Amino acid sequence: MSKERVIIVGSGISGCMAALRLMQDYDVTIITKGQKEESNSMLAQGGVAAAVSKSDTPKKHFSDTFQAGCFHNKVRAVNQLVTCGPVVIQKLMEEGMTFDEKDGELSLGLEGAHRLPRILHIGGDQTGKFLTTFLQEKLTNINWQEQQMAIELIKQNDVAIGVHCLDMENQLHTYYGEHIILASGGLGQLFPVTTNAATISGDGLALAYRAGAKLTDMEFIQFHPTLLFLNGRCHGLISEAVRGEGATLVRTDGSAVMTNIHPMADLAPRDVVAATLFEEIETGNDIFLDIDAVAHFEERFPAITASLDAHQVPFRETKRIPVHPGAHFLMGGIRTDLHGKTNVPGLYAIGEVANAGVHGANRLASNSLLETLVFGEKVAEYIRTQETKPQNNPAIPLTSHAKAPHLPDKQLLQEKIWETLGITRKPEKITEFLHWIAAFDYANHTREAAEISHMLITAKLIAESALKRTESLGAHRILKGVMK
Ligand code: SIN
Repeated sequence: MSKERVIIVGSGISGCMAALRLMQDYDVTIITKGQKEESNSMLAQGGVAAAVSKSDTPKKHFSDTFQAGCFHNKVRAVNQLVTCGPVVIQKLMEEGMTFDEKDGELSLGLEGAHRLPRILHIGGDQTGKFLTTFLQEKLTNINWQEQQMAIELIKQNDVAIGVHCLDMENQLHTYYGEHIILASGGLGQLFPVTTNAATISGDGLALAYRAGAKLTDMEFIQFHPTLLFLNGRCHGLISEAVRGEGATLVRTDGSAVMTNIHPMADLAPRDVVAATLFEEIETGNDIFLDIDAVAHFEERFPAITASLDAHQVPFRETKRIPVHPGAHFLMGGIRTDLHGKTNVPGLYAIGEVANAGVHGANRLASNSLLETLVFGEKVAEYIRTQETKPQNNPAIPLTSHAKAPHLPDKQLLQEKIWETLGITRKPEKITEFLHWIAAFDYANHTREAAEISHMLITAKLIAESALKRTESLGAHRILKGVMK
């Protein structure tokens, strides 16, 4: 008998984890927009938060997650994350994954809003790269489909049964399956300033929305405080772990930015730090990470060191890194249960594209990689309980749209999204933005048109959610008052 087919959209850790747990018994295909190495997971520096030390407990991790999330998190989801987390990590270690150690013990880093060090890391600041590679090397029994951009979810009798994709030449390819898992990441590329991979532009969110999936909490977008900032442009992440090792945020004159802002100062929750830096920059101040107090910086942060050298930043002499906040992570997304199930039968969502409720209004640092591992396991666990007969699918054509659509220039769209839905938001501006985007069409006859269309849909969902939440909470900060 033929095996049930699982189609996974996205090659990051959540998709790879699900594939690993299913590949022996299922016919698993991973579709990815770029190469399989292109994902936000690969870029993750900090690590994986988990209560694995003797002085830590899931209860403490639970409480830090809730506090950082402004108590907007879902209790059962956070419980699952913090209790299953250490178990999933232990299993991975038994399977051969090695995390950095110090004096024969796991070396645990500290990041913002954690009350104690609990961040497991690999290769110093290369956790995402090593973890993704480890999982991908284990995927010996799956079908990889690279450079395939998903442009439409296919449904039959209200059940998700497949995905239409475009290759690099805009040729259509269709994949059918009994289980469709979206693991396609968030939406960083909606913004001109982001830590995200070039492929991450809200595709999975827009596809799910068009297929009738429920999306929630879309207004909660996390801005990371410290991207490397040179000549008016950002060049990737400078991990929060650098502050965990003692770096501080300073102005040009050396004065500390975070003193008197929050009791945790430089390690305050990320929404607080990002908003503080944004205000400073708006008033004309340049901001730097002062790394003078960080012991063995180059050894602890080899990838950041390589990036600083590649950009000729004289940090060895100045002990300073110029930084700026940028879009990093979506807390909201496709509403799922604790096993990644959406309201559309046959459709699952895991990782950043999903909103199971673990992050609330502001994600706790390094909980995202833990989420990818835990929910990757959980979706596989659920699928294994289902018995869905492999179908002979009828060929269902792509929905056709205007071939000469009216679409905005991508850069202009990104700038407008940053101005309207960035770190601080004004309701009047959001309403204006919604009028502006209403004039554009939807199209998916080319990858370029589909990408801009997905960005428009995703931006509309954020804007509508942002307008509905009239009070500031976590990463959603409303500025009331006169419109400039
Ligand atoms: C970082 O290394 O600062 C990012 C980690 C995260 O997003 O949790």
